[in-house]
Parts: sequence; structure tokens; C-alpha cells
Amino acid sequence: MTDLLRRYSDILAASAREGLLRVLPVTDTPPELLDFSGNDYMGLARRPELVEAAAEAGRRFGAGATGSRLLSGNSALHEALEARIASDKGTEAALVFTSGYQANAACIAALLDKATLGAEPLVFADRLNHASMHLGCALAGARQTRYRHLDLAHLSALLEKHADDPRPKFILSETVFGMDGDLADVAALQSLALRFDALLYLDEAHATGVFGQNGFGLAETIELAPTTVVMGTFSKALGVSGGYVACSTLLRDYLINRAGGFIFSTAPSPLVLGAALRAWELLPGLGAERAGLLARAERLRVELRQMGLDTGPSVSQIVPVILGDPVRTVAARDALAAKGIRVSAVRPPTVPQGTSRLRLGLSAAHTDSDLERLVEALRSL
Ligand SMILES: Cc1ncc(COP(=O)(O)O)c(C=O)c1O
Repeated sequence: MTDLLRRYSDILAASAREGLLRVLPVTDTPPELLDFSGNDYMGLARRPELVEAAAEAGRRFGAGATGSRLLSGNSALHEALEARIASDKGTEAALVFTSGYQANAACIAALLDKATLGAEPLVFADRLNHASMHLGCALAGARQTRYRHLDLAHLSALLEKHADDPRPKFILSETVFGMDGDLADVAALQSLALRFDALLYLDEAHATGVFGQNGFGLAETIELAPTTVVMGTFSKALGVSGGYVACSTLLRDYLINRAGGFIFSTAPSPLVLGAALRAWELLPGLGAERAGLLARAERLRVELRQMGLDTGPSVSQIVPVILGDPVRTVAARDALAAKGIRVSAVRPPTVPQGTSRLRLGLSAAHTDSDLERLVEALRSL
């Protein structure tokens, strides 16, 4: 092995020693396997009507978009999905991306662009925000001031401290946090943003489909300001893939002109967007499934806590079982797998040191007896 290759190999060996090595899970899913490792929260990923909608979109628009939106890739389907999202989110416009990761990286980088702003931006970010939001900041070369997770008093104090600073201000937060399953107060965040003249960027990846009267996310409960940008994904509760931002027409026009991940990437496939549009249309009719999912998650938390397990601050369909130690967490995941139950073992750097956990992603497709099987398996660990 060359010295250069040995550096990569050494990193993998060190990760393995610390119980932090990431390996791809086996893909063959035995029929009796009970899966809590995914984000298919509404159980839509395998719905035949989504597959049919993908096929129908493919027949009309082709399997691939053939180019970026600005060249050959724009289609009536892209525009229709965006119009639907904007109307349901209560914004003037929306813009779709190939993935949520790409949406965050590209949009945040463009919004924080120093040349546009004429100054270095002041970025206030929840310390547990997703990696793709950090990437957006890093691409713009913007330093983040991290506030304590969900601590709006801390955020407010930081904004107050910089109240007279003329530099443009930004607040970045997830709305349902993907690893803890707790919720941001979106109304309070928007009030703070308006009070301090900051742009608010909300990531609804885990809220879209599950929260809001119609399933359009937590931000559905507030009237969005023109300086609030809401990002979401089709990859989780919608069961497909891709991302979007809902925003003002001005900001959409700006992103079309300045977001590298939009300009220099082939437009999302019509197959994917056809399925995403169909899934989006289903959301308002899934109120009973949403209520059932959240009620089942609450019952699960109560049972796990009675067993002495730490489910953290979760109040959503995402239920962590915080074990602390990465080696113990991987062993617990493997023991559950041996019983035919798949969960994710999430370890640093995805979560902070000392908070390694099993992540349970509940779905509307799970039954009460699925949950009982999970509880019994956790009890016998
Ligand atoms: C909070 C959050 N934002 C963005 C993403 C990226 O979305 P996607 O998987 O669609 O790329 C994820 C995915 O894990 C996420 O958890």
C-alpha cells in the first residue's frame, strides 16, 4: 500500500477501534423483517399509485430530464410540482432539487454569498442542524454562531448582542430534528427573525408529511414572512426522493441565478417528480394516519421510559433510545437484527459524543403488534 492510501486505511482502522466504522447494511430484506431504520413515515414508498404516477410521468416526460433546468431540463411537471408546493406552503414560489442535501447546500451557500450581501453574514444556527446545512455555510465561507439546541433565549441573547451590527443576519434551524425527534417553535423563530431583521431558513425534512393539518409541515401553522425560506424533502414521509425550497418569487429568481447546485446539475428526473407530486397530493387526506402515527410514537415512548430507557426529548415519529456508548449501541442494533428487527445505530459525528443511540423511525404502516414486538425485543436486550 502506498503512503497516500495508508492514510485512508488508517482512518478506517481508527474508526473501527472506536466502534464508529460505518458499513452499508445488508440489503436483502426477509419478509418477516420489521423495519424501523427508515424515514418512510407515512408508508408511501411502496404505494402502487406512486409507482404508477412515476411510470405515467416517464411516459409523458421521459425517464431523465436531459439537462439542467436552465438548459433542456425544465418541464411542465417541474413547474406543476413547484406551483403546488408554493400554493400549499403559502409562499409565492418554490424550487425543486435532486435531493434535500443538495437543496440545503446550494440554497444556503447562495443566500450567504458575501459578494451578493456586500458583507460577511452573521449566521445563527441551532447546534444540532443537519450536515447539509453546515455544508451550505462552509461553501459560502460563512462562520456559524451555534446556539444551544432549541434554546431561543440563547438565540435571542446572541441576536441582541449583535443588534447594532449592520451585517446581514440569518437564522438556520430544522423544524423536526432528525436525530432527537423534538420540535422547533417556528412561530417564535419567525418572530425573532423579524424583530432582528434576519432571514429565517427552516428545514422541514422530517416535518413534511407528518406535521401540519394537511401534512405540509410545521411551518403550515404560521403565515410565512417574505424573509422566511422553508426547505423540505420528498425523500422521507413522501417516500420518494428530492428536495425543495418554498420562498418568495424574488428569492426563487435569485436561487435560479446563483445556486450552483441548481444551475450546474441535471434537473430531477420526471419519474421521481411524478411520484413526488402524487405523494404530495395524498398528504391532506392522510390526517388519520398522521394522528395514529404520533399517538403510537407517544405510547412507545411511555413504554420505553417505563423500562428505564432514555428516549431523549422526542415528541414526534422519531424516537431515539440513547445508550451513550457507540460499541454498546452497535451491539444492541445487531441483537435486534438477530430478532428480525432493523433499527439504525447512530453514532458520532452524526450525534454529539456520549449520545450514541438506536434511532427508531416510526411509520404509519407499522401496526400496534409491530410496536409490541419492538418493545419486547428491546426489553430482552
Ligand atoms: C434535516 C435534514 N435535512 C436534509 C436532509 C437531506 O435530505 P435528502 O435525504 O433528501 O438528501 C436530511 C436527510 O437525512 C435531513 O435529515
